[in-house]
Amino acid sequence: MSIDTFDYSKSKALFSRANKVIPNGISGHFNPLVQKPNGTYPHYCERAEGSRFWDVDGNEYIDYMCAYGPMILGYGNSLVDEAFRSQLGRADTCTLASPVMVELAEFLVDLIPMANWATFAKNGADATNMAVLIARTATGRRKTIAIDEGYHGASPWMQARERSGIDPDDHSDVIRIPWNDTAALEQVLDDNENNVAAFISSPYHHPVYMDNILPADGYWSEVHKLLKQHGVVSICDDVRAGFRIDMGGSSEYFGYSPDLICFCKSIANGYPISAVLGTDSLKEAAGAIFQTGSFWFSAAPMAAALACLKELRRIDAPARIMDTGRKLADGLIELARDHGQELKVSGMPSMPYLRTVHEDGIEFHQSLCGECTRRGVFMASHHNLFISAAHSDADLQRTWDVFGDALKALR
Ligand SMILES: Cc1ncc(COP(=O)(O)O)c(C=O)c1O
Repeated sequence: MSIDTFDYSKSKALFSRANKVIPNGISGHFNPLVQKPNGTYPHYCERAEGSRFWDVDGNEYIDYMCAYGPMILGYGNSLVDEAFRSQLGRADTCTLASPVMVELAEFLVDLIPMANWATFAKNGADATNMAVLIARTATGRRKTIAIDEGYHGASPWMQARERSGIDPDDHSDVIRIPWNDTAALEQVLDDNENNVAAFISSPYHHPVYMDNILPADGYWSEVHKLLKQHGVVSICDDVRAGFRIDMGGSSEYFGYSPDLICFCKSIANGYPISAVLGTDSLKEAAGAIFQTGSFWFSAAPMAAALACLKELRRIDAPARIMDTGRKLADGLIELARDHGQELKVSGMPSMPYLRTVHEDGIEFHQSLCGECTRRGVFMASHHNLFISAAHSDADLQRTWDVFGDALKALR
């Protein structure tokens, strides 16, 4: 029996209204035109609960994008939402910071082995910008080394050079090197002696439109040996992977200890907050930089973060999510094989990147993800997926049924 495909009339109508008053209808990475083939994805969500959301046409989806990472305990988690509401009832954005900020910092310093302090912002890019300023202040140097295709946010120095509005000068202090290439790192450090403030990288390589790559054996220890020799600050950008691999930060899992860690996405199950954590040696520099924002001290997201982190630790969420991700991938690979296709799954099981090896290149995989989505399993084709603690065995079974049906439809 085949599975019915969805109708998106209300989504489409809303999108044409949006196009009149919002550039592109929906900006940034939520713009539906990123999701190909056009017409296979919905545009607007009506409500969300657990591992699922419902679009404005009433279609129900198992969500494997989790709001691109923030959702980790399931939408509408009662513990997190209650903590948020309770703080909201006392004070949120106010003229003074709230005590919950101190509690959250204490909790994080306890949770993350390398951390002696924590400071807060809103978005991932706030955190990565702050980390670089701290490194520059501590070292008195300008340059940052980053990985080719490594994403750290939408500030000009972080964006791809070819994007609109980006000037070559925005990148003049950024040196890009390939992932897993310690020889390139050594060369750049030698060529820029006493000029490099920071090395910023995610704990493993999770670019878009490409297979994700884990660190080679010995990579992180060699990187840290070189950074130490050259007096360079190590920044772990754990904005995307944070708490989906290890409750101590993903660097713990990969066996290294950075000087600064940036968290965001999943830290508060969808409420807006990010954090930079650091070692004692960088505390003075962190206190010296000027970084702030209108909403950076809002207390309700901090209360949500505290509740979320406690719950993630209580249920050992990373282990559970990795296990679900492994089962999901094994089932999908087997189904693809049964239908004469090869599905390649890369990266960490809790954030798997899927690619169908096909003579039509990415187009076949795009069609496959589009066919899954319009049957109720939402997955992007160009980005790693996200698994949450709310994804159940029943979700997996339904996902496999839909995936098989989508493969059949494409035969
Ligand atoms: C690894 C990484 N760093 C930084 C960011 C930027 O976070 P934000 O979009 O919240 O500024 C992202 C966002 O996707 C990310 O994946």
